[in-house]
Amino acid sequence: MPCTYEASAPAKVILFGEHAVVYGEPAIAVPISRIRTRVWMEPNESGFAIQSDAGGGPDLSGVQQLINSFREDFGIGEMPSETLRIASQIPIASGLGSGAALSCAVTKCLMKRFGVSLTADEINARVYEIEKLYHGTPSGIDNTVICYEKPLYFIKNRESRIFSADIHSLPLLVVDSGIRSRTVDAVSDVRAHFDKNEPLIRQIGSLVREAVYALLAEDEEIIGALMNENQRLLRGIDVSCGLIDECIADALRHGARGAKLTGAGRGGNFIVLAKDAENAESLRALFRKKGLNVIL
Ligand code: PMV
Repeated sequence: MPCTYEASAPAKVILFGEHAVVYGEPAIAVPISRIRTRVWMEPNESGFAIQSDAGGGPDLSGVQQLINSFREDFGIGEMPSETLRIASQIPIASGLGSGAALSCAVTKCLMKRFGVSLTADEINARVYEIEKLYHGTPSGIDNTVICYEKPLYFIKNRESRIFSADIHSLPLLVVDSGIRSRTVDAVSDVRAHFDKNEPLIRQIGSLVREAVYALLAEDEEIIGALMNENQRLLRGIDVSCGLIDECIADALRHGARGAKLTGAGRGGNFIVLAKDAENAESLRALFRKKGLNVIL
């Protein structure tokens, strides 16, 4: 069956600045174009349906909400007798933006199916509405980096600048701890202890501003050191976890320049900056041996 109305969106990683970005500090994020969520519509004989290949019955209320507002805004009556199918390579609740990627891919698929044209800003605004449904007070970094599919320097409600540094040439690993954790829980715990956390949050902000120069200069030693410092501060606001701390210590012992969790933390993925391509390969082997899923 040809997939006539097909669309997709990438995963993302936050290189620097998660959590602090909720409080107005900058953050840097990049899309991972190789890891995607794909959505398409195909005919079926028994009315409109949504089907996801993800095990465990993912929460599709955001998809339903996107469809409802799309129909309302563009005067679309009944949905056709078709199945909207979802196939995702992005692990859920693991800091890689699976929810935003799904919303973005669904929006683009509906645009194709109903011949509606929207700008990237308009797509982003729709996806952000769904992020709010799930996360309450999202900074907007996930949906923005995913909808534009470009590296971003992002400040909530102010600035999202495309970041020109060649981040994809860095020997960077993305590894899934296998621990699932809800963004909303980590974000609300950080908020609950804001008085204690604020000095660390402001330090993360300063560090991100330094990271901009290190990334532009492709100074991998400083980038690695800043990742380690960012991880120390994230531990300070209590969003790391034992397994990630242990994996990061292992990576550093085996020659990595730096490592940190990415996304909301308490599990999910961590990123490692290897010394070079050879070191990256041996670190990948190390984590695979531990039974972890090396995403990149
Ligand atoms: O784990 P994710 O992909 O949901 O990323 C969350 C990033 C935070 O900074 C922790 C929250 C936010 O809204 O920016």
